Amino acid sequence: MNTQRKTGGGSGRKNRTNRAWVARHLDDPYVKLAQKHGYRSRAAFKLLEIDRRDALLRRGMTIVDLGSAPGAWSQVLRERLARPGSQAGIDGRIVAVDLLPMDPIPDVEFLQGDIREAETLERLESMLGAAPVDLVISDMAPNLSGIAAADAARMSDLAELAIDFAVRHLKDEGALLVKCFHGSGYSQIVEAFRRHFAEVQVRKPEASRSASAETYLLGRRPRRVRPSAPDAAATDGAGQQRATRLP
Ligand SMILES: C[S@@+](CC[C@H](N)C(=O)[O-])C[C@H]1O[C@@H](n2cnc3c(N)ncnc32)[C@H](O)[C@@H]1O
Repeated sequence: MNTQRKTGGGSGRKNRTNRAWVARHLDDPYVKLAQKHGYRSRAAFKLLEIDRRDALLRRGMTIVDLGSAPGAWSQVLRERLARPGSQAGIDGRIVAVDLLPMDPIPDVEFLQGDIREAETLERLESMLGAAPVDLVISDMAPNLSGIAAADAARMSDLAELAIDFAVRHLKDEGALLVKCFHGSGYSQIVEAFRRHFAEVQVRKPEASRSASAETYLLGRRPRRVRPSAPDAAATDGAGQQRATRLP
């Protein structure tokens, strides 16, 4: 995965850090479980745990998976949306996006691109068409530089993009799950969640290493400001009132 913190101090220390990481990884019960269940990474268990608690995933949903590679969360989504019967496909839609390529997963539509770029957003929006989204999940994390302030700013940037996308595309009863890191910028992300969602919860699944600053924020029911009287500028072609984002 590309979120390993860069280590300074020469190749000796770097090798020791890498060896320690490999040893911890091989000992990790979630790594073993992921191998056993055929998940592409241990991240699957974070989503499974959050879903067990918060009942996020149901058949029939349209779900957008931001930062999806290598694909463990998409695998979980596919399992949860699967129609009964072995070859029956899914009931709903899963659209996954990542900077990196992702090996195909049946029934998962994949878009490779950088979510910070307008072109990626446009392609994603055209894949979705007019269909409103039930759930947006973002496990996006930047490549860490080791410079805390720069890393926090990149993380906040990704979280804000996820919030912005979700508020524009979610159904009224929709939800957004976003990975963020405790540290500088965290309270601003929580604040942004509170501004944009009627209900906000913080989740730290057991599968997320306790030493890691990683935390998930779950927002439900996006808040929207609707103009009091319909006006032409705020309606789309179908005469539907468009939602206007809160500042
Ligand atoms: C922790 S991994 C996601 C793991 C994934 N949830 C899974 O279960 O396999 C984070 C991913 O975010 C992606 N990412 C980071 N910045 C991105 C961006 N600007 N646009 C799209 N994807 C991004 C990375 O390429 C990386 O694959």
